[in-house]
Amino acid sequence: MTSYKDLGLVNTREMFAKAVKGGYAIPAFNFNTMEQMQAIVQAAVETKSPVIMQVSKGARKYANATILRYMAQGAVEYAKELGCPNPQIVLHLDHGDSFELCKDCIDMGFSSVMIDGSSLPYEENIALTKKVVDYAHKYDVTVEAELGVLAGVEDEVASEVSHYTKPEEVIDFAKRSGCDSLAISIGTSHGAYKFKPEQCTRDPKTGKLVPPPLAFDVLHAIEKKLPGFPIVLHGSSSVPQDEVDTINKFGGKLPDAVGIPEEQLREASKSAVCKINIDSDSRLAMTAAIRKYLAENPAHFDPRQYLTPARENMKKMYIHKIVNVLGSNDKL
Ligand code: G3H
Ligand code: 13P
Ligand code: ZN
Repeated sequence: MTSYKDLGLVNTREMFAKAVKGGYAIPAFNFNTMEQMQAIVQAAVETKSPVIMQVSKGARKYANATILRYMAQGAVEYAKELGCPNPQIVLHLDHGDSFELCKDCIDMGFSSVMIDGSSLPYEENIALTKKVVDYAHKYDVTVEAELGVLAGVEDEVASEVSHYTKPEEVIDFAKRSGCDSLAISIGTSHGAYKFKPEQCTRDPKTGKLVPPPLAFDVLHAIEKKLPGFPIVLHGSSSVPQDEVDTINKFGGKLPDAVGIPEEQLREASKSAVCKINIDSDSRLAMTAAIRKYLAENPAHFDPRQYLTPARENMKKMYIHKIVNVLGSNDKL
């Protein structure tokens, strides 16, 4: 058993309370590689932002769970080395799908876990979430739950349609499950294709897709039911069109990729939404930089040559989100 406290990590409790009160959101960036980890830490330190570094089941499979745990511990030390004496870094399990996976993460030093029972019947979601909460709270680890289903693919849980969270269920769910934060469904979804073209309109000037707005009425109804309770938004990448264009220009094929407009995330950050999940935008920033670099430098084959601009491009994106979208800068 390793306590996250010995690794210099923090849980989300105080961080979320401050964010809700201060009208900003904490960035939750997924990481699978050393370059993503370095870019996240550099961005958080330079902007003086708390940050959640999250690991999915797929990330554990790709990079190895132990390696990722040590990378998070390394992230804390790296932040100090970069001149941040008291970094606020959470190591979070993203979309945990079983008690055993959550327990394994808690036992190896994670400071926060998500148990995603959103695809289960209501009572089963409560029971599974409560089981995880009971174990996690013994070690002061915080737990994110999910109510409502996002369209698209949630790791291995596929859903064709999105079912918005029902505001009338949230009080009962939060009370009986004991969760510390709640991920809700208000129209975001995972990946780089958040909406089908037929769900969007087209900008007559650029021809680009304009997605339908998020269900702010549902968010506000939930906030009324649970005043001050930490709310989480998954599937919140904006799918920047310049990155998509770069990928397509240099041999990629991402037709009609579309994300959540940043103005809407900016607005959500000012509410009880205090954690915003971003993964796809990092993938796009990395891939765009690598494709461009390799197309322009066909004779280069040292990974450090193309991973350096990839890391820089991700860092630029992370800083932009922190400062211009979530507002979590200057909070350390
Ligand atoms: O919500 C899903 C995250 O973007 C993680 O994706 O399961 O492909 O690592 P992944
Ligand atoms: P995106 O695919 O929009 O980046 O969402 C990531 C996410 O929700 C991770 O849990
Ligand atoms: Zn998610």
